[in-house]
Amino acid sequence: MSEGGDAAPAMSPFLAACRCEPAAHTPVWIMRQAGRYLPEYRKIRSEVDFLTLTKTPDLAVEVTLQPVRRFGMDAAILFSDIMTPVEGMGVPLDFAPGPVIETPIRSVEQVDALRIPDPEEGVPFVLETVRLLGEELPDSAPLIGFAGAPFTLFCYLVQGGGSKTFSEAKAFLFAEPEASRKLLEKLADTMVRYLEAQALAGAKALMIFDSWVGLLGPEQYREFAFPAVRRMIEGLDHLDVPLIYFPNQGSTLLGTVRDCGADVVGIDWRLPLADARKTLGPEIAVQGNLDPTALFAPRDELARQIDRVLADAGPAPGHIFNLGHGIERTTDPDAVAFLVDHVHEVSQRG
Ligand code: CP3
Repeated sequence: MSEGGDAAPAMSPFLAACRCEPAAHTPVWIMRQAGRYLPEYRKIRSEVDFLTLTKTPDLAVEVTLQPVRRFGMDAAILFSDIMTPVEGMGVPLDFAPGPVIETPIRSVEQVDALRIPDPEEGVPFVLETVRLLGEELPDSAPLIGFAGAPFTLFCYLVQGGGSKTFSEAKAFLFAEPEASRKLLEKLADTMVRYLEAQALAGAKALMIFDSWVGLLGPEQYREFAFPAVRRMIEGLDHLDVPLIYFPNQGSTLLGTVRDCGADVVGIDWRLPLADARKTLGPEIAVQGNLDPTALFAPRDELARQIDRVLADAGPAPGHIFNLGHGIERTTDPDAVAFLVDHVHEVSQRG
């Protein structure tokens, strides 16, 4: 195990890696680490629905802590959803189990009617959860606050719910570029205030999920999604917390992503980390990128896959171990325990 040790560095391994500084071991956490693959999560979820869970600070704190307690993760991620702050903009929201928007946004009038809410009024429960977590979490597991990137939120708002292709949302970009840009900017400005409030409440790092950006070609990325995320990161620059940007399935966009201003870029499993590092340069840390389905392999094969990710990341500082996307619901929690221990053991640097 890797916990403790008297020569503990002043900064947690996770925060050190975010800043491309040497860490005692490669830090590890996993996307969707709090969730339905954990029996202790399912127990709580059998008693309350997902929205209630996100809006009840004591419960949200508990499920945030569950994977940290069970596995000794090097970071915690706030239990909430990328769509949570959208309700305060005036968009009623449901989950079944993914986000559902009853009246999709398809006109400039609807865009104009959206509010940019004060987070203390729109999402007081999120900020209370962050404050409580500040008291509960050990220094070894700093809290990551998060938000959706403007384009990914745009996808849900315009499409009206989940989709494999988000064709309606993409069609809106081509058909209504001005309204699209306006919506993206409004989302960026709302998310700046939302993330700023999380940092002020005690979040130690902030992550921006661009889950659907891989659906865009390079021109639409550069014209729409990238300026909006850049606007967001510029708005957060004054805060002294590392910013992580995750352009899911965005390996062909990395040359543009490099200039987004983030301290850390998340990489899905389609691109070796060595290639990502080459494009991003030594001053941007990388996060990733084990294929989540590797957790279903026998232990020796899982170990081999983990070792390959570590080897691809190389010996330079600035690697946060993670999956290449969220953990699958049917994953055995013992495989996650093996993953965390293995990363810690193999990457131990005294
Ligand atoms: O542990 C964590 O990662 C923290 C919590 C978290 C959730 N959603 C909880 C959740 C985070 C960081 C998110 C982000 C999120 N939400 C993203 C970006 C990350 C990604 O996966 O790309 C996206 C695209 C969403 C939208 C969303 N919310 C979807 C598609 C779904 C359905 C997912 C599913 O697996 O069925 C949700 C619901 C949701 N958000 C769940 C959880 C734990 C499942 C809710 C349940 O218990 O029923």
